[in-house]
Amino acid sequence: MVVREGRGGTNQQGPGDHRYLLKFVLASGLSFLVGSVHGVLQLLPPIRAWLDSIGSPYGGPGHLIDPLAHAHINLIGGVTLLAMAVSYYLVSVIGGRPIHSRRLADLSFWTTVTGLASFYLILVIFGAWQGELLLANDPAIEQVHRLYSALVPVAATIMGAGIWMYLANLLLSFRGLRRDSSQPPTPGS
Ligand code: HEM
Ligand code: HEM
Repeated sequence: MVVREGRGGTNQQGPGDHRYLLKFVLASGLSFLVGSVHGVLQLLPPIRAWLDSIGSPYGGPGHLIDPLAHAHINLIGGVTLLAMAVSYYLVSVIGGRPIHSRRLADLSFWTTVTGLASFYLILVIFGAWQGELLLANDPAIEQVHRLYSALVPVAATIMGAGIWMYLANLLLSFRGLRRDSSQPPTPGS
């Protein structure tokens, strides 16, 4: 398929040009794997009883693990990463030109994945750690909670930055399409 030249620097677009999307699909699948194992584990009676005893799903340290960690690994990792890949693919195939920036797509991918992995791990580790301290009635829980409160916004911001870069790339791709359609056709195109 012949397409107009875009930022990708090519005027030919074949299956190989979309290979960069495979890492989104792989990361989505891996996230569903982690999220579904997490979902099953949180239903096993001893784990369920432990989670209930530390506040899940309504509040306390338990709600960091169920539902927060579980919901985000599935919805951002499993669903949103796949939605990113699908929308990049559809915009370039239907629009007939490469997306605004392949480099920004790669950067947004790695930023989202880094933010998500750290967000998930912080929620699970600090949920369990604070949960154990709560059960032991240990006053160290306040210190640990302060550490959690300092770390989680960092992970959340990295994850948010990845998502916003994706959104910017999508919007700029649409702007490119609009610019293309407002230009008069060149001879032979
Ligand atoms: C084998 C797969 C899965 C199992 C066994 C599972 C199990 C669970 C359980 C036990 C809860 C907590 C219910 C509660 O404590 O109130 C939950 C909540 C949740 N799950 Fe899953 N889940 C699975 C897959 C998924 C997938 C694939 C998604 C998303 C695509 C998902 C999204 C959610 C969300 C958003 C919540 C929170 C719901 C709320 O706001 O209360 N889960 N899941
Ligand atoms: C940077 C991105 C995001 C951050 C930092 C974030 C963070 C949060 C936080 C802090 C909560 C509620 C906390 C609480 O109740 O204590 C929450 C709830 C939730 N978020 Fe997100 N979120 C993000 C993006 C998303 C996206 C993209 C989705 C879906 C595709 C999503 C789905 C949910 C759901 C379903 C809940 C409710 C979970 C429950 O309490 O049952 N989030 N999120």
